[in-house]
Amino acid sequence: MMILGLETSCDDTAAAVLVDGILQAHVVSTQLDHDSYGGIVPEVASRLHEQNIVPAVKTAIAKAGVSLGDLSAIAVTYGPGLAGSLVVGVSFAKGLSQALDIPLIGVDHMEGHLWAGFLDGPDGAADYPFLCLLVSGGHSHIWEVAGPGEYRLVGRSLDDAAGEAFDKGARLLGLGFPGGPAIQSEAQHGDPEAVSFPRPFRGTDHCNFSFSGLKTALQYYLRDLPPGELDRRRADIAASYQAAIIDCLLDRLQVAVQQTGLKSICIAGGVSANARLRDQLDTWADKSGLAMRYPPLEFCTDNAAMIALAGYHRHLVGETSGLDLGIFPDLSLAHHA
Ligand code: KG4
Ligand code: ZN
Repeated sequence: MMILGLETSCDDTAAAVLVDGILQAHVVSTQLDHDSYGGIVPEVASRLHEQNIVPAVKTAIAKAGVSLGDLSAIAVTYGPGLAGSLVVGVSFAKGLSQALDIPLIGVDHMEGHLWAGFLDGPDGAADYPFLCLLVSGGHSHIWEVAGPGEYRLVGRSLDDAAGEAFDKGARLLGLGFPGGPAIQSEAQHGDPEAVSFPRPFRGTDHCNFSFSGLKTALQYYLRDLPPGELDRRRADIAASYQAAIIDCLLDRLQVAVQQTGLKSICIAGGVSANARLRDQLDTWADKSGLAMRYPPLEFCTDNAAMIALAGYHRHLVGETSGLDLGIFPDLSLAHHA
């Protein structure tokens, strides 16, 4: 079964080709035009998706060495995301599915992230049940995954997402966007124990996160620094701030493991690219006999390979969408449960 995956929920136009669960080729066209605005401009994003989607699909098909006529189905992100961006991908997918007379599969973007850790497996199959720490720019969730479409939300951020904490922290520290990679790179030369930032909810027995207080703590810390001190101590402050975010993620995940008894864990979403997070998870997994699964770095952030794989598993259980598939900017995985 050959699936074309399409992803246009935010600022990446992505296409991928997957055959029987195995990735053949993928393309991500990242929109750089937003950098000069200091954030994503929805109107600009949808126009660029419209320009980029045909070249992205053509390149993915060519890289896979196949032709459009070989496709068996099209999987497309239909939410959550920016309405104008989702519309481009979904409309394109509908047109192509109609023209080629092949099924259309609407995929939840977050469900795609859940599958990213299985893209490097022999046939893209997952070992259920497992816990997934899904940490991106818009979400910080811990999901218990019992099977395709069987998701239970174990914990979530009550305010900012972990990626947002990185992005807002980087802005305060005068580092670039996106903030996660910028903080990680600055932190390489710093001492993670130089500044003592709070660890919200440590010691509590639920699995929820809170990151907004951490960002405020950084804001106050920087406000009270003598002039010139930030430039001298940026690496130490970045390392300490990163350590606080990672500690919170680990601490809550440990509670989730205690509560569910699950020993198999995967991480997903943009923040799952973080090297300190991976190091600390490895240490914990070795000590506690846990099986830890990480997506290859290129599949942590938004891509269409994960959408194609999620679509493949939906298709295997006979789930396809009609041409009346709509976009759902506020779609939540909880809707599938
Ligand atoms: O999953 P993603 O690409 O987009 C969303 O669906 O949100 O995640 C983007 C987020 C950004 O907040 C970015 O700062 C963060 O992932 N991120 C990282 C790293 N790489 C990307 N955070 C921490 N460390 C990284 N290496
Ligand atoms: Zn994402």
